[in-house]
Amino acid sequence: MSALEYERFADIYRVWTATAGSTHANHPFYVEAYLAAGGPVVELGVGDGRIAVDAAVRGCHVVGVDLSPAMLALCRDRAAAAGVRDRLTLLQGDFRSFELPEPAALIALPYHSLGHLTTLDAKREALRHIHTQLRPGGRFVFDDFLMTPDRLDHMRRVQLRAEYDTPEGQHALLWVTSLIDEGAQTMRVVTWEDLLDEDGVMMRRRYRPLSLSWITPAQAAALLADAGFTVERCLGAFDGTPFVDDTAEEQIWIARKDAAA
Ligand SMILES: C[S@@+](CC[C@H](N)C(=O)[O-])C[C@H]1O[C@@H](n2cnc3c(N)ncnc32)[C@H](O)[C@@H]1O
Repeated sequence: MSALEYERFADIYRVWTATAGSTHANHPFYVEAYLAAGGPVVELGVGDGRIAVDAAVRGCHVVGVDLSPAMLALCRDRAAAAGVRDRLTLLQGDFRSFELPEPAALIALPYHSLGHLTTLDAKREALRHIHTQLRPGGRFVFDDFLMTPDRLDHMRRVQLRAEYDTPEGQHALLWVTSLIDEGAQTMRVVTWEDLLDEDGVMMRRRYRPLSLSWITPAQAAALLADAGFTVERCLGAFDGTPFVDDTAEEQIWIARKDAAA
């Protein structure tokens, strides 16, 4: 992956999340979960701190883990700008091998980020490791794409994602499409930014691909069971709607490490 991919993606991450469908819904869900955790909270793939910093502003201490130095730097800057740098502990590490200073009450892996591990073996390794980093009774919460034919069709289209001015003052268009391998359940999300001069002439185009993947709900349940988790709930939307096959928009898993584990 993806560590290198995010080194190149970091500068457009804020525009990307501001114009994404699910970020507006997943943000309050995770912030509330962090505040309710009642113990050490960890966000894996903390990114630019979009969720963690807002939880910190509301009083929560968050340990943020991420592989990408560029994303961790954005998170650090965002926390400093919000005046909560002291409420964030940032660690560079991988989902499969991070080491926490103390066992967590809640480990969250938001925004389809498990999908950056693109094989079932890598995801299995991650979930087994996450289980070891929780305290007994602690929870693991994550969401993944709920892939449907409509969603695949949508992702394959070329979409104009955003129009904005860069910090350097250049006018920009952000485009995206995805190359999808349905058999392997993987995709290359290919994003490109066009920088335009005042006459609308394209001066520069830069591509920033990301490697992603998805699992089915049955695969998610099997991975959680394999790692030793007990599933408390599976939601179909971030407003708390229980997962129902025909109407679910996402798969959001809330799992527990049993007290005896
Ligand atoms: C989709 S972003 C999510 C960021 C943030 N949680 C949010 O919701 O906006 C995924 C993040 O996971 C990080 N990441 C990807 N693969 C990783 C891995 N194997 N271990 C740790 N971090 C990883 C990326 O660097 C990126 O910051």
